[in-house]
Amino acid sequence: MAYSVIRHDEKMILDAAKREGIPLDTVRMEDLSSALGDVPFESDAVLDRGISQFRSYYFLKMAEEAGILTMNSSEVVRICGDKYLTSAALVRSGIPTPRTSMALSPEAALREIERIGYPCVIKPVVGSWGRLLAKVNDRECAEAILEHKDTLGGYPHSAIYIQDYVEKQGRDIRAFVVGDRTICAIYRNSEHWITNTARGGKASACPVTEELNDICVRANEAVNGEIVAVDLFETGTGFSVNEVNHTMEFKNSVAPTGVDIPLLMLRHFIDRARC
Ligand SMILES: Nc1ncnc2c1ncn2[C@@H]1O[C@H](COP(=O)(O)OP(=O)(O)O)[C@@H](O)[C@H]1O
Ligand SMILES: [Mg+2]
Repeated sequence: MAYSVIRHDEKMILDAAKREGIPLDTVRMEDLSSALGDVPFESDAVLDRGISQFRSYYFLKMAEEAGILTMNSSEVVRICGDKYLTSAALVRSGIPTPRTSMALSPEAALREIERIGYPCVIKPVVGSWGRLLAKVNDRECAEAILEHKDTLGGYPHSAIYIQDYVEKQGRDIRAFVVGDRTICAIYRNSEHWITNTARGGKASACPVTEELNDICVRANEAVNGEIVAVDLFETGTGFSVNEVNHTMEFKNSVAPTGVDIPLLMLRHFIDRARC
């Protein structure tokens, strides 16, 4: 298991390995350096539990160049770590997802926002925990956010990701996919439009229906994933996938679902490593 920091989630994985008698060594990404052509560390397979997506990406590349099996792969990190690439993969696979646009200047973004209408959402293409998301209710709000992005944002903010705002009645769904199965899901309820549990959203069990399982498994396939968390909205016409997360946190989801998420992750990883 590769990590940067052993958080509660990683501790749960290590505990599950101990309980099951699975030999799971750890490697701290920051301790590594390796020349191309050399083997960076001794292992058949590596489970990525990094926090920094950039570091994880290159760590996984180093491992893959040395023929080590990676889960998820660097390609999954590349796609899931970028909201635009994820949306593109979902659209390409015909999976329902909110209408999404890209604009490459504040002027083009304002034109696009006026075209799609209010409210809409602007997100950084790279980010998590609901940070720097903006719900844009009117033109004045759009102008202010775009000016702030342009002046204060730095280069990642020059790619402006714009999405339809989805009315979601106070909740969305996070579903956990391991291999070809949705193992469990939670509702995330919040009075705030941003429902991440990291931002105070409350988790409760959500039944995994055939329809939910099907769309989540397809979303996982769309990004070439193995172990992912899929965020979805419930709409009048069925589920809509918001995003796919490649190194998911699960500590708040084990108790409400009663599913041992770290154990199922680990078993899948070991099965694949043994193939
Ligand atoms: N288009 C949208 N319409 C309505 N709510 C949204 C939309 N996009 C995001 N949200 C809310 O904000 C939360 C965080 O958005 P998300 O795209 O998952 O970013 P992050 O990677 O920061 O978690 C979602 O779980 C949801 O509650
Ligand atoms: Mg999210």
